[in-house]
Amino acid sequence: MGRRREFFVKVGFLSFFLFNLFPFAYRSVIYNITATKPLSPEQTLNSPRQLFELGFFTPNNNSHNQYVGIWFKEVVPKTVIWVANREKPVANSTSSLTIGSDGNLRLVDGQQNTIWSTNVSGQSNGSIVVLSDEGKLVLNSITGEKIWDSSQHPTDSLLPGSWLVYNGTSGERLTVTSWKSDHDPSVGDFTVGVPPQTPPQAFVWKGSKPHWRSGQWDKSTFIGIPEMEADYQSGVILVEDIQPGSIYLTVNILRNCSYSMLMISPTGVLRFICWVEARGWYAKWEAPVAPCEVYGACRPFGVCDRYEANLTCRCLKGFVPKSDEEWSKGNWTGGCLRRAELTCRGNTSSINTQGGKPDRFLKIGGLKLPDLSEFLKVSDEIECHQRCLNNCSCSGYAYVNGIGCLVWTGNLLDMHELPDGGKDLNLALHT
Ligand SMILES: *[C@@H]1O[C@H](CO)[C@@H](O)[C@H](O)[C@H]1NC(C)=O
Ligand SMILES: *[C@@H]1O[C@H](CO)[C@@H](O)[C@H](O)[C@H]1NC(C)=O
Ligand SMILES: *[C@@H]1O[C@H](CO)[C@@H](O)[C@H](O)[C@H]1NC(C)=O
Ligand SMILES: *[C@@H]1O[C@H](CO)[C@@H](O)[C@H](O)[C@H]1NC(C)=O
Ligand SMILES: *[C@@H]1O[C@H](CO)[C@@H](O)[C@H](O)[C@H]1NC(C)=O
Ligand SMILES: *[C@@H]1O[C@H](CO)[C@@H](O)[C@H](O)[C@H]1NC(C)=O
Ligand SMILES: *[C@@H]1O[C@H](CO)[C@@H](O)[C@H](O)[C@H]1NC(C)=O
Ligand SMILES: *[C@@H]1O[C@H](CO)[C@@H](O)[C@H](O)[C@H]1NC(C)=O
Ligand SMILES: *[C@@H]1O[C@H](CO)[C@@H](O)[C@H](O)[C@H]1NC(C)=O
Ligand SMILES: *[C@@H]1O[C@H](CO)[C@@H](O)[C@H](O)[C@H]1NC(C)=O
Repeated sequence: MGRRREFFVKVGFLSFFLFNLFPFAYRSVIYNITATKPLSPEQTLNSPRQLFELGFFTPNNNSHNQYVGIWFKEVVPKTVIWVANREKPVANSTSSLTIGSDGNLRLVDGQQNTIWSTNVSGQSNGSIVVLSDEGKLVLNSITGEKIWDSSQHPTDSLLPGSWLVYNGTSGERLTVTSWKSDHDPSVGDFTVGVPPQTPPQAFVWKGSKPHWRSGQWDKSTFIGIPEMEADYQSGVILVEDIQPGSIYLTVNILRNCSYSMLMISPTGVLRFICWVEARGWYAKWEAPVAPCEVYGACRPFGVCDRYEANLTCRCLKGFVPKSDEEWSKGNWTGGCLRRAELTCRGNTSSINTQGGKPDRFLKIGGLKLPDLSEFLKVSDEIECHQRCLNNCSCSGYAYVNGIGCLVWTGNLLDMHELPDGGKDLNLALHT
């Protein structure tokens, strides 16, 4: 794993051990921050059951680069799940986390300059800040109403109880974004989110370009991630259409894990990690690992073997490399083209006038199905087949348990072969 993270279970007999190992264990512990009780770098804010801790930390051993973050209280080395001032470290050890006169939580330096703030308007100064056992920093008003919470401003981790969001009403998106490097929490290159699509898919973007795609959600797993344990629970909960076009994704703690969460690494690898006593953190699944898994690696109509260390693309049956010369040199950028154009299927006048044979479907099994599918509401697979057959622009279809009818027009992009758990694609071909 990028940032090496280990988790020490919170059990009594380990306390002495941890006290000596954990460099900040001597810091005094508080359970809330109020206007009269700021948090200093010598203190930490703890969640009620002491699962999580918030305080000052220096990810690069440079005391002039202090960040305020949340981590698991008893994990060594520190597993930071949220950072407040990720773009603006504080240099001064006299900094503190305090409630300002406007009722916002503020990180101030020694000169009382505001480095970071919760920045909610119209609050009073009686507010109080606590850390929940879900790892959320929460700002409550004097009347106990929640004004702000850190899960609405996530860093690189998605924890049980927090959500990736696409809100179809407001267009609001909640995404997680990688650290710049293992030692720099500032905003990195990779973002994870759930765009508005039917069926939903999760994406890792590099800047604005897709870097990895989960495959379609089949109501219990993403079909591109066969390691998700669908039999009992996949670890991912996805809620659609609370409001029209809205998608919400969260994770839960997997069976046999003491804790599990999603995390995006500085190099763009999304990991669903699990903590078990005997192993520490390990990845239940992670992607992309091999070059084949990177979005569109083999370009249109090309496929590759998911786990091959060196990318080797092949064209789907009935397709040929756009450029044999580049393809033979291992340059896959051109992708593949149809060997023979489709005569419009079901268009008898076309068959008659051109004397061609009718088009047919070739079933290709064991695939991560391509991107840019269109969902059709049909009653069964036969109707799905018919709808594709009768449409001149249909390049293929799939009928998937838990989803139904998917059809594609134009290019088929971002497929790869899955050793097990792949789906069948019915590819339209001219013979
Ligand atoms: C920080 O210092 C510790 C102890 O000196 C060392 O083990 C660790 O590798 C250092 N980390 C970085 C990022 O330099
Ligand atoms: C830190 O704050 C103190 C007190 O405000 C100030 O004297 C000192 O110059 C500051 N140091 C840095 C590095 O900003
Ligand atoms: C605080 O919020 C206001 C209005 O929402 C915005 O204009 C301003 O840039 C924000 N300030 C910071 C430091 O985020
Ligand atoms: C904040 O509280 C202090 C005393 O606790 C009070 O003197 C001050 O007027 C309050 N400020 C605002 C903006 O409410
Ligand atoms: C989605 O946005 C609408 C409009 O801003 C808002 O009323 C609603 O509460 C939001 N839904 C969620 C679940 O945040
Ligand atoms: C969970 O643990 C039980 C007993 O320890 C074991 O039988 C089972 O296979 C494990 N399940 C998973 C999904 O690892
Ligand atoms: C992958 O490519 C590298 C360099 O091009 C080569 O050294 C290595 O042997 C290849 N590995 C496999 C499994 O083909
Ligand atoms: C690969 O082929 C494309 C054209 O399809 C060309 O533009 C590009 O320069 C080639 N890349 C390499 C590394 O040869
Ligand atoms: C059928 O084929 C003919 C001749 O190629 C073409 O003009 C016509 O538009 C096609 N019909 C459909 C429904 O695509
Ligand atoms: C064919 O499929 C395209 C894309 O899905 C769709 O826009 C078009 O309406 C379909 N045409 C027919 C005749 O169903």
